[in-house]
Amino acid sequence: MKNTITVILTVFTLSAQAQIPTTSIVVDASNLRTKINKNIYGQFSEHLGNCIYGGIWVGEKSKIPNTNGIRNDVIEALRKIKTPVLRWPGGCFADEYHWKDGIGPREKRPAMINTNWGGVTEDNSFGTHEFLEVCRQIGCEPYFSGNVGSGTVQELSQWVEYVNSDNVSPMTELRKKNGQEKSWGVKYWGIGNESWGCGGNMRPEFYADQTRRYGTYMRDYGKNKVFRIACGPSDDDYNWTEVLMKDGSGFINGLALHHYSFNDGKTATDFDEKGWFDIMKKSLRMEELISRHSAIMDKYDPQKRIALIVDEWGTWYAVEPGTNPGFLYQQNTMRDAITAACNLNIFNNHCDRVRMANIAQIINVLQAMILTKDDKMVLTPTYHVFDMFKVHQNALYVKTTLEAPDYILGEQKLPAVNSSASIDDQGNLHISLCNIDPRSQHHISCSLKKFTVKSVSGRILTAKEMNAHNTFGNPSIVAPTKFSDATLSAKGIEVTLPPMSVVVLEVKGSCELTPSLELKDPKPGIKYSYYEGNWSAVPLFDSLVAQRTDVIDRFVLPEKNSGENFAVQYNGYIKIPKDGLYTFYTNSDDGTNLTIDNNVIVENDGLHAPQEQSGTSVLKAGFHEIQVKFFQGGGGKVLDVSIEGPELSKQIIPAQLLYH
Ligand code: AHR
Repeated sequence: MKNTITVILTVFTLSAQAQIPTTSIVVDASNLRTKINKNIYGQFSEHLGNCIYGGIWVGEKSKIPNTNGIRNDVIEALRKIKTPVLRWPGGCFADEYHWKDGIGPREKRPAMINTNWGGVTEDNSFGTHEFLEVCRQIGCEPYFSGNVGSGTVQELSQWVEYVNSDNVSPMTELRKKNGQEKSWGVKYWGIGNESWGCGGNMRPEFYADQTRRYGTYMRDYGKNKVFRIACGPSDDDYNWTEVLMKDGSGFINGLALHHYSFNDGKTATDFDEKGWFDIMKKSLRMEELISRHSAIMDKYDPQKRIALIVDEWGTWYAVEPGTNPGFLYQQNTMRDAITAACNLNIFNNHCDRVRMANIAQIINVLQAMILTKDDKMVLTPTYHVFDMFKVHQNALYVKTTLEAPDYILGEQKLPAVNSSASIDDQGNLHISLCNIDPRSQHHISCSLKKFTVKSVSGRILTAKEMNAHNTFGNPSIVAPTKFSDATLSAKGIEVTLPPMSVVVLEVKGSCELTPSLELKDPKPGIKYSYYEGNWSAVPLFDSLVAQRTDVIDRFVLPEKNSGENFAVQYNGYIKIPKDGLYTFYTNSDDGTNLTIDNNVIVENDGLHAPQEQSGTSVLKAGFHEIQVKFFQGGGGKVLDVSIEGPELSKQIIPAQLLYH
């Protein structure tokens, strides 16, 4: 009898398992080089509805607990998800914003009409100083959107000066008079917003010229180098990218793409499976948009100097009943959580080009992290995805290749599962998995290359209903919990994902370290060879005859050089103090390439002004071969080679680590 029961149970389990679609994923921890820029997890805040007023800013006299007028509850929540960067003041609002109206005594600030968003009166009580105070409290970098649509070159140029300069000037005196002695040193500046639409309805050729013009007068002050972000394309406007890259790429560091997933006029909570599928499809389109815009950028910028910055993305539904249609206030459900995870996986997988993204918007607007009502605050399902995915911030990207069955609805289908992975500076591997199928669980069979697993744990976000959401009365309906459905197998890891779920696994173990070299009698210093010639890229040194060779203690340019048109090749060994992940940086003018153990780690080639690039290698303690190739065309010349690793803060590679 007992045997019969066992047989029946086994057959039942097998047949149940056979029903579960299986996805195979290969997680390949070889070739680790690129970091996932933490700014992919960035946010966007606009003077729109209750994003700034009520959501962030309540003023010092408010009964809502605040520090310098900024809500304490909101700041605490944003610190928890490690918000890395915040874009402000718009959006469409940015191209009507005149920053000088938002400084000085609040009672004297002029008001304006917010023509884009509800026609409400904007009293300018929140301005430059208040925004930078928000960023200080969150611990994030500010990203200003400059006014190109209705502002002047002088106005934007003076804003940069007011914020970034420590010289003596009318702008810096004004800043000091307003209570800020030292400059803030803001790096990220946008040159207009949606200049193809609300930002001036410009044609790409005209806008490319505006970018060159405005970009020229956004000056660098002191050590701060302005990172200029041009308005990029809307969705699939590939011509915009083509023209901007052709005519404007020499003047910018980033190009901003916008893509929203709009629905058919229904609210965030009012949808059926068709509505679910439709938003999944529109969100997953991000993959195609990034791939195709990147391909155009590659043509003009093969070294990926210019970042693709997705500085507005997210879902956009009809507003909640009874709210101002111009305020874009929407609820946030499990559907939004899934689309957030899909997009973050896509950004991670394109981290070589996508180096910032800013979801729209941070509080009370569109796909918000946080909703507030008076003194109450609720964290949305999207917030929880950002919380779970924060482990990828600045971690080393690990490629995942996946064969997923389809999620089918009627005649249409989409890949049911998507993923991304990274290794953090403690050596932990994180794999984020997303099952977009609201009806079926999915089994994941995960094999790992070059990573030995010791244990696996995880967190999951899921719900019973597609439109499950958190409310002020019931704030924890959708919240992450411990995930226990991942087990170790001979091949790697076996996982069962429930329908509509996001899982982030933490895999403890070790990745394969590049072995160190046995050196017989290493001597301090590195060898260098000096060449003269006219190049526009790092030359092929093997075909050249050196004018002289010598030993030098660090990667510095030989004192005796021709000033222009020369090249130097450095060869030696670096003594790595401890097993772990090491990031190497070159800051050079003109080009450099850096290799470790014959693998190119940092590519920073071409004729250019001082520019920093980095790459990472997983190294065993001991000696490793290091080679730096540098060339100088005309103009300035710079070479700095730095290292950062376990217990080693970022620093110029010190002489005591270099040998030959
Ligand atoms: O995020 C809302 C609006 O969407 C922004 O102001 C604008 O840039 C975009 O069209």
